[in-house]
Order: sequence, then C-alpha cells, then structure tokens
Amino acid sequence: MSYAVRFYSRSGNTKKVADAIAEAVGVSAVSVDSNESAITEKVDVLFIGGALYAYGIDDKLKSYLDTLSSDKVGKAVLFSTSWLSKHALDLMRKSLEGKGITVESETCYLKSKAVDSSLEDVKKFAKKF
Ligand SMILES: Cc1cc2nc3c(=O)[nH]c(=O)nc-3n(C[C@H](O)[C@H](O)[C@H](O)COP(=O)(O)O)c2cc1C
Repeated sequence: MSYAVRFYSRSGNTKKVADAIAEAVGVSAVSVDSNESAITEKVDVLFIGGALYAYGIDDKLKSYLDTLSSDKVGKAVLFSTSWLSKHALDLMRKSLEGKGITVESETCYLKSKAVDSSLEDVKKFAKKF
C-alpha cells in the first residue's frame, strides 16, 4: 500500500496528529501550503486533515482539496481537531466526495486539549489502513 499525509494546521494541533499518522505509516506529513504538497503519483491511501475555524475550514485547505482527483487518490482518510465540533470532517468529506473521491467512513477526530495524550491511539488508527 502507498500512503501520503497532508494537513493544514494554524497552531500545531492538527500537525501533531498528521505527524503521528505519518510516523505510523512510514511517510512524512506535508502541509498543504508547502511546495511539495501536490500528489503527483497515485497513492492508495491519502490521510488528509484540518481543523475547524469559525465553523469553516481554512481557504488553503479548501483550495488544496479542489486540486485532488480520483485518478491519484485511491481512498481518503480524514482527521481533524477542534475545540468541540467535528464539522471540518463533514466539509472535507463533502468536497472530496463531490469530486468522486472515495472517503473512508472511519475518521480520526480529537478535541484540541486531548491531542497530546492521544497520539498513540492515532498511530493505531493509522495502521488499520
Ligand atoms: C479563530 C478560531 C476559530 C475557531 N472556531 C472553532 C469552531 O467554530 N468550533 C470548534 O470546535 N473549534 C474552533 N476552533 C478551535 C480549533 O479548531 C482548534 O484549536 C484546533 O485544534 C486548531 O488546530 P490547529 O492547531 O491545527 O490549527 C477555533 C480556533 C480558532 C483560532
């Protein structure tokens, strides 16, 4: 199986989750605003995550989701952090499914304050795919 991990994180919480997933599957986590974020070769599983800001996802993540296509992404697996709401997962799913990309039903969501104590569980989650 081939893997990629992409994320957008303003203050580092979602990045910690991305890094734990990446470590578990043996790749590097890349921010969507990096020059190296494009998916140029097909991946079986793309882990993609972002946080919720004022009930929306960051425009940089929105734009990045628009660049993805089903011929390069076998399946997307979503992750997110926030204070309380899981809505970023819905927004990412809607965008990806709208482009015909298969999105795994299981997701990884953590409240911000639980991130540091949950990274081992995050790694277990990532290894399922
Ligand atoms: C400007 C701003 C708006 C936010 N709005 C929400 C929100 O509507 N609902 C929520 O549950 N969390 C909200 N949060 C909390 C973030 O989603 C949470 O801190 C998240 O872990 C940030 O991830 P990051 O460190 O990867 O940027 C907001 C945070 C900020 C800074």
